[in-house]
Amino acid sequence: MNTSDLYFKRLKETDTDVDLILGKELNRQQNQIELIASENIASLSTLNAQGSVMTNKYAEGYPGRRYYGGCEFVDEAEELALKRVKELFNCKFANLQPHSGAQANQAVFLALLQPHDTILGMSLASGGHLTHGAKPNMSGKWFNAIQYGVKKDGNDKDLIDYDEVEELAEKHRPKMIIAGASAYPRVIDWKKFREIANKIDAYLLVDMAHYSGLVAAKEYPNPIDYSDIVTSTTHKTLRGARSAMILTNNEEIIKKINSAVFPGLQGGPLMHVMAAKAVTFGEALKPEFRNYIKNVVSNAKILAEVLVERGFRIVTGGTDSHIVWLDLSPKNLTGDKAEKILEEVGIACNKNAIPYDPNPPKITSGLRFGTPAATSRGFNNEDFRIVGNMIGDVLDALLENDEKQQMVSKKIRESVISLCSKYPIYKEPY
Ligand SMILES: Cc1ncc(COP(=O)(O)O)c(C=O)c1O
Repeated sequence: MNTSDLYFKRLKETDTDVDLILGKELNRQQNQIELIASENIASLSTLNAQGSVMTNKYAEGYPGRRYYGGCEFVDEAEELALKRVKELFNCKFANLQPHSGAQANQAVFLALLQPHDTILGMSLASGGHLTHGAKPNMSGKWFNAIQYGVKKDGNDKDLIDYDEVEELAEKHRPKMIIAGASAYPRVIDWKKFREIANKIDAYLLVDMAHYSGLVAAKEYPNPIDYSDIVTSTTHKTLRGARSAMILTNNEEIIKKINSAVFPGLQGGPLMHVMAAKAVTFGEALKPEFRNYIKNVVSNAKILAEVLVERGFRIVTGGTDSHIVWLDLSPKNLTGDKAEKILEEVGIACNKNAIPYDPNPPKITSGLRFGTPAATSRGFNNEDFRIVGNMIGDVLDALLENDEKQQMVSKKIRESVISLCSKYPIYKEPY
């Protein structure tokens, strides 16, 4: 039986309410330029696997060691996903069962730390992630979380302050150092982190959630040889199923991670997502994925260049990745206001604090842009030049009177729709 025949036409017939909502979301995605750096457009094959019969299957345990019968085919899916992910990231061991990036990090903490241990991670304000020790997160509540940041000024302004990382490590002697970030657009020096961790005999966790697609395409350094554990989501630059993974080359560590994920933290793994992850890794192993990631990075560089031409400052002065981190302060604008007006014209992005931001987190002085989703639908360098100028026009108009502002917004909304119509997010019937 061809399984895809089973799903796609059904919903329309059985639940028009949900079908309508899904249709509205599809149209939103089609008619907006998606610049949220953590989002992407998964392939129809990934959606197909994720919406499959494996939804029905409980499979607590690991391949060949399950607590349920009938697991022979889900075992095949997990084994295949494991084989592919190890090839993709050149690693010896993997756990593909965490449901999300946050849970993957929790599993690492559960495996290797005790409550109240000291951890050292990058602060949210410098571009780090919530789960790296931020106060409102479990990582900040259950551990003694020390935070490093980026340089405030000088030639290295906005770049990770490795001297500070080293000083804090020597002073607080954390059991684990966490490297990786959510807004930091530059290459992170994994080797330097390893050297610091070695000095104090700490574990090094690299959370490459944002960069994993770039790593898979060999366009960003692979942290696997420098770290004890690597975590990542699978749906950002990796363009796959909404999920996560944990990688390591250390057999002792993988044993602890496996028991931390199940039964420590989770029950049954999501086997439909496992099948979708196998598809994701298969896609990322193809040469086309490498071309895609090269385009992601070159589009980000063009976007940064145009925004500088338009009088904005780019945090860190540019980008080595898919992220463009915009400082709105030269124009006296806030992230909050800029995000809203861009959303109105059909450009989706998120407000983001800039380092040493004088504005509170709900307002911010910055925006974070990312090129993975628009590049997936086919946007090229020329399109990103246009997008950069659209952003410039809309934000500059915020400094004009209401009438001028509305006129510009209307014109840009039309241009957004026209550009989007050139690039259907799904080329086959959905
Ligand atoms: C660096 C990093 N780690 C972890 C996560 C959490 O992933 P999830 O939203 O799947 O829990 C994110 C999500 O944005 C992230 O950027």
